[in-house]
Amino acid sequence: MANIKRIGVFTGGGDAPGLNAVIRAVTKKAIIKYGWKVLGIGQSTMGFLQPEKNVWLDYKSVSGILPKGGTILGTTNKGDPFNFPVEEDGKIVLKDVSQIIVDKIHEYKLDGIIAIGGDGTMRIAYKFYKMGIPIVGVPKTIDNDLLITDATFGFETAVNIVMEALDNLHSIAESRDRVVIVEVMGRDAGWIALHAGVAGGADVILIPEIPYHLKSVIRKIDERRGYGANFTVIIIAEGAVSAGGETSYLEEKAAGGMKRYGGAGALLKQNLERFIDSEVILTVLGHIQRGGTPCSYDRVLATRFGSAAADLMAEEKFGHIVCLKGTQISSAPMIDAASGQKFVPMDYDLLEAARSIGISLGD
Ligand code: F6P
Repeated sequence: MANIKRIGVFTGGGDAPGLNAVIRAVTKKAIIKYGWKVLGIGQSTMGFLQPEKNVWLDYKSVSGILPKGGTILGTTNKGDPFNFPVEEDGKIVLKDVSQIIVDKIHEYKLDGIIAIGGDGTMRIAYKFYKMGIPIVGVPKTIDNDLLITDATFGFETAVNIVMEALDNLHSIAESRDRVVIVEVMGRDAGWIALHAGVAGGADVILIPEIPYHLKSVIRKIDERRGYGANFTVIIIAEGAVSAGGETSYLEEKAAGGMKRYGGAGALLKQNLERFIDSEVILTVLGHIQRGGTPCSYDRVLATRFGSAAADLMAEEKFGHIVCLKGTQISSAPMIDAASGQKFVPMDYDLLEAARSIGISLGD
């Protein structure tokens, strides 16, 4: 077995329900099975620049965190150490501070690091691996769009939150013959919109993978009126685009150097109102989808990932990331985690099932 005495663990990128369950599993297994000490690194790798953010995790400090949303370690998607914003002569310039972090890792005498995060965090983790840091990864995103793994924790919780919102909004739609639009997360992939839309009985589901036609949406609203249903519930992913190429986002380069989305629902509402008489209301669920307690599936998956990450460390499978393949926990090279996105495939049977029960996908 590897000669490991101390490891560090950090969470990077956006928060997701289940992060604390991973931290708990890593820490408990490190202490109970391997006898390692565990340093919780605060706010992604920022803790190496601001050591007051870090805390040694013992058994007691991770007790009771399983049901908590967020991450006890804190996180950020703005502190890329290879492009770190530093103020110089009143101006913000980007600097490479990675060697400072490598030196700090040696100063702490850490024999390995467990990085929990999405594709951006894994890109950073891989660069540290190439600099000689023994590092393993745990994938995370509520969007469920990492190609490397069949599932990520946080997704099912988000789907449940959206499903409940759809249940609530159905009564609002029904009682006043309204068209209700619900905008949900999903920058590039429509997994949340599709799964929550089906689970919550949406009539129209618009996802980034299928550019939508306004006339198809209007046709569905009219068709439902023909059946005697004078209301329609539409779910739209934040990254959905109209077939005419109309899209919308709030800010360039906000979320970890990427576009921050928002406005897809507002755009659809504005366009629909030009053609239909019904009142159209819009609810943007936003970060509500990422908060709160993880559902049982996510707690279980996060625990499996945390436990497996500790094993990868013990086996010295550095530069690897844990993942789920079918029903089995597996691992893959970390470089692959940042190399591709998992989109809703056009032959996914749920698309056919949705269409077959009258759900419009806007095409
Ligand atoms: O990638 C996960 C995600 O939740 C996306 O669905 C969303 O666009 C983005 O993060 C939001 O990021 P932030 O929390 O930085 O606004």
